[in-house]
Amino acid sequence: MSSTTTLSARASAGTAPAPALWSSRLAFILAAAGSAVGLGNIWKFPYITGENGGGAFVLVYLVCIAVIGIPIMMAEVMLGRRGRHSPINSMREVARQEGVSSNWKVIGWLATLAAFLILSFYSVIAGWTIPYIFHAVQGDLAGVDADQAGQMFGNLLASPVELTLWHTLFMALAVLVSVGGVRHGLERAVTWLMPALLVLLIMLVGYGMTTTHFGAAVDFLFKPDFSSLTAEAVLVALGHAFFTLSLASGSMMAYGAYLPKGVSIARTSLTVAVMDTGVALMAGLAIFPIVFANGLEPGAGPGLIFNTLPVAFGQMPGGSFFATLFFVLLLFAAWTSSLSMLESVVKWLEEHGIKRAKSAVFGGIAAWMVGLTTVLSLNVWSGFTPLDAFERFEGKTLFDLYDFLTANVMMPIVALLTAVFVGWVMKKASSQEELGAGTGHRLWLFVLRYLTPVGVLVLFLYNL
Ligand code: TRP
Repeated sequence: MSSTTTLSARASAGTAPAPALWSSRLAFILAAAGSAVGLGNIWKFPYITGENGGGAFVLVYLVCIAVIGIPIMMAEVMLGRRGRHSPINSMREVARQEGVSSNWKVIGWLATLAAFLILSFYSVIAGWTIPYIFHAVQGDLAGVDADQAGQMFGNLLASPVELTLWHTLFMALAVLVSVGGVRHGLERAVTWLMPALLVLLIMLVGYGMTTTHFGAAVDFLFKPDFSSLTAEAVLVALGHAFFTLSLASGSMMAYGAYLPKGVSIARTSLTVAVMDTGVALMAGLAIFPIVFANGLEPGAGPGLIFNTLPVAFGQMPGGSFFATLFFVLLLFAAWTSSLSMLESVVKWLEEHGIKRAKSAVFGGIAAWMVGLTTVLSLNVWSGFTPLDAFERFEGKTLFDLYDFLTANVMMPIVALLTAVFVGWVMKKASSQEELGAGTGHRLWLFVLRYLTPVGVLVLFLYNL
């Protein structure tokens, strides 16, 4: 770690040197928001909202963020700050401080493994944005119709060589920033990436307002129609709350480890969650006017932005310009998210005496190699569905299985264990010391003890 970084005497826990801290509360907020805001907000949120009927789903998602997401985020940031290590060793450290079994580090292991697996396929999807930036810049999107846009996307997915190229490029970008470490890499990158992203989004929403269908988009997103809400939609909303806030996978714990003492975890978590939710809603407000203005289908599924937005961009005045902005924005958002997934792994390697740069390159290459199986499962191996014997997994490719394993199995388990550890195992005085006493703390503890475990268990069992 760089010798010029600020070391905090109080930050030192155990034998490892004190970690470099974020330079300010704002730096942490930008980094955590950079982690939270990603493909989940701009690619996934609009398409699952479209699939699940709009307003009522959005409302349930907002409730999940407020009631389960924010308390779990506070718990994870707190564990990170008390542990001051990678998620694996922070859990070990906090368990030691609490005088309980070091086996609780299993939370850190599962979280890190989830982050690693998510990074492997996240990089492949994020890579898709790069050829679209080129298409947009070259004016390829001008005048394309739905068939041509679908063909463009299909061609991309069909080419393992091209997908591998973009996947490699994206992972290299992530490793490049990660090598620089907290102050010199992550922080500097997010300090300008996040504001740039906000400006781009505001411009896109501004464009949406000039279309005749802005009102329809507002109605779709904010007028709840509970008759269209299914039980499964509720569970999709809860699962997405974890994914979009980067929870249950070590990211927030790893970033919390760099949070200076004395910064309010509650206020900070709230700010990050509000920013993340704001970006998702803005993405919806940017995308749905275009969808409605062009008579496109809101429930088009995961291909929504790649299959339909090029059509819209192709028709609007200045479309190439807006398309370029949009895909650059998406690449930035995915980039800062991927950094947080890499961080848990890199920090853990560093704790084993491997230099930061080597750790980042090694972690990146390992995730890149696993990512190649996702690349192949989109084309050459698309018929390879290894778990067909189990009805639940029938027809699922490797990519589908990674997604299922992380979102529907590993993350719920990690969230559940985290809630149990912080709510029941950790001394109340310890969490009070970290978060501050008061009614807020009592409410938070109540939520973690009862609401979160029950909510997550329902999600988990339903998905099995
Ligand atoms: N939250 C990010 C998004 O919405 C993705 C992300 C970053 C993530 N870190 C994570 C998802 C850890 C799951 C686990 O795109």
